[in-house]
Amino acid sequence: MDYEFIQVEPRFAPFVALLRLNRPKELNALNLGLMGEIRDALGILDNDEEVRVIILTGNDRAFAAGADIKQMAGKGAIDMLKIDQFSTWDAIRKTKKPIIAAVSGFALGGGCELCMHCDIIIASETAQFGQPEINIGVMPGAGGTQRLTRAVGKVKAMEMVLTGSFISAQEALQWGLINKVVPVELYLDEALKMAVEIASKSPIAVQLAKESVLKSFDSHLQEGLYFERKNFYMLFATEDQKEGMNAFIEKRKAAFSGK
Ligand code: HXC
Repeated sequence: MDYEFIQVEPRFAPFVALLRLNRPKELNALNLGLMGEIRDALGILDNDEEVRVIILTGNDRAFAAGADIKQMAGKGAIDMLKIDQFSTWDAIRKTKKPIIAAVSGFALGGGCELCMHCDIIIASETAQFGQPEINIGVMPGAGGTQRLTRAVGKVKAMEMVLTGSFISAQEALQWGLINKVVPVELYLDEALKMAVEIASKSPIAVQLAKESVLKSFDSHLQEGLYFERKNFYMLFATEDQKEGMNAFIEKRKAAFSGK
């Protein structure tokens, strides 16, 4: 598997493949070529029976410092729409086998979002996570506002997305964004240890378990909102709604009948 921007070792360990982002000078900025290569490699590894778990990593200085700003800077809205880069991200999300992100250094913008496309995140003590798009006049586009909010909650996601500030690996751990923090020389070993453990299970059970966890994660909020909304409308069919609202307007205590 020969690529320009990534390195792939399908037999990194028994049943474990390694995919390394490899644009070190640019801090692994995610240009379209690199993203296309990730998509292609994951597609191949997903169909390789000798692979049960995939580790996605960068280098000690950077997992990825975001989408390639130099590639995006001159683009207009219609250019971005036509490029349709998110079909690539959607394909990555559909990988059936578990992906463990082994993160050191910067995981920013699209880099943080790429981590959040993975199933488990192991970080070095030097890792920093952030959604700094606000600093360059845009906002997260690869799921950051949704996945980060589900991971760390509304107020912390707001702080990160609106101020662009970075959080340390320790904060990311406390906030529930990542699984584990280890010294920098151990993050890949730790990811491998977890990969070997998962690879020892039934691969079909692992695949269906991953799919099921993602199902709950993906559909929960929207379905919950629709559910809530229908119930809200339904209440306008009750006498108690009329009584309650009229009582408020008439400045008296409501007498609810349960009808
Ligand atoms: C293109 C980047 C880059 C990026 C770094 N580089 N991040 N190039 N796109 N996202 C390049 C720099 O231009 C520089 O190239 C080299 O990598 C080293 O970076 P420095 O800035 O010199 O390093 P340092 O001073 O250590 O600062 C590190 C940094 C900073 C804090 C990570 O590089 C930074 O703020 N990067 C941008 C982070 C960001 O805004 N990410 C979000 C992008 S938008 P030269 O040639 O000068 O040596 C995004 C949207 C996603 O991700 C939407 C969905 C896809």
